[in-house]
Amino acid sequence: MRPNQVIAEIVKDENMPATRIEVNIADEKPYDVRIGSQVLDNLGDWCCRIPSITQAPQALVITDSNVEPLYLARAKDSLVRAGYKTSDVVIGAGEASKCIDVASEIWEAMAGLGLTRDCFVVALGGGVVGDLAGFVASTFMRGIKVVQVPTTLLSMVDSSVGGKTGINLSAGKNLVGTFCQPSYVCASTDTLHTLPEREWRCGCAEVAKSAAICSDDFFFWLLDQAGAMAARDEAVVTEAIARCVVFKADIVAQDKTESKGVRECLNYGHTLAHAIEKMSGYGVYSHGAAVAEGMRFAMQMASEMLGTSKEFADTQAQLLDELGLVRLGWKANPEEVLNVMKRDKKARGGQVRFVLPLDVGKWKLMDVDDAAIIDALDKWMCE
Ligand SMILES: NC(=O)c1ccc[n+]([C@@H]2O[C@H](COP(=O)([O-])OP(=O)(O)OC[C@H]3O[C@@H](n4cnc5c(N)ncnc54)[C@H](O)[C@@H]3O)[C@@H](O)[C@H]2O)c1
Repeated sequence: MRPNQVIAEIVKDENMPATRIEVNIADEKPYDVRIGSQVLDNLGDWCCRIPSITQAPQALVITDSNVEPLYLARAKDSLVRAGYKTSDVVIGAGEASKCIDVASEIWEAMAGLGLTRDCFVVALGGGVVGDLAGFVASTFMRGIKVVQVPTTLLSMVDSSVGGKTGINLSAGKNLVGTFCQPSYVCASTDTLHTLPEREWRCGCAEVAKSAAICSDDFFFWLLDQAGAMAARDEAVVTEAIARCVVFKADIVAQDKTESKGVRECLNYGHTLAHAIEKMSGYGVYSHGAAVAEGMRFAMQMASEMLGTSKEFADTQAQLLDELGLVRLGWKANPEEVLNVMKRDKKARGGQVRFVLPLDVGKWKLMDVDDAAIIDALDKWMCE
């Protein structure tokens, strides 16, 4: 197989249908993403088949206080059945746990449990657990393996794949982190049944984002399936996750460390979204709701600056509406929004950078000058 090739195929997992996607990034060990109902119960079996962790003396499951009562026992049972000694650390649910204090507590716990370099971490939860657990695993003893077990739609379609880990500082989100590809990703779609609606929509925004910048095929498929997606239809959800993972894996394979101007396309909608989240206070709007707003805003800018068609703008708006991602009606002073955007870690040399859609599946990374941003924000706030 050539490097950077992403292989997606449907496989039978011991009578359990699952979609297997092989992620193959140059200079990294290839890893599988398995997507399917109940694949959590086969977690241990699949870990056993990964040479780097087959012989691991211990697996540490890191999860949060919401996921613990729902899925920790299933994850640990599966690992124990496969012969692993297991232990766990439960963090408080929510973004506030993605910080150095909690990371430090976990490092101490890892040392106290006698974890050695051949042990591995299982990140069981949403993107908060995934980013934090990936970070502590990639730094403990200069790096031990991590298996991602995402339990939110957002983490299945986005954060569990691609290897970005991180914690927040008071100065901003994700300011400290590492690149660390997982050894395996286990996306058990049955865990999504317990996901609150707000978190569901949050993930839907990332699916819509991926579809809009990926291809006609993905975008119009999602448009057709938007009702089923909003209703969490199992087959549609599985296919949406698989399409997102294939797309993200392909982008990451081209630009692992976001240094070639390719991976940044995944930030579509995020320039305004980060400002909305920061200015309104984290948690007031969900990240996904803010991303959807940011996609609409970037589309408006693209229409004016690059002549992106009204038809694409209307279709994107229809898709977001159908996924339950309606306009927020968020208002703020444009000058203040610009200042916040300039302080974002994605800004380069004081220039604010946008991913602007040209057409379905086509986009342009653009440093936009201050006057044009103020002008666009003025119009946006008046709508
Ligand atoms: N590493 C990356 O590439 C990347 C990409 C996108 C986002 N992120 C990060 O991901 C984080 C957001 O992730 P998220 O949206 O998954 O948030 P999250 O991890 O906070 O999960 C959202 C909420 O859902 C709960 N939950 C999780 N799974 C559940 C389930 N199956 N049933 C019921 N409740 C469940 C959690 O306890 C939490 O309260 C942010 O910190 C963001 O920076 C990282």
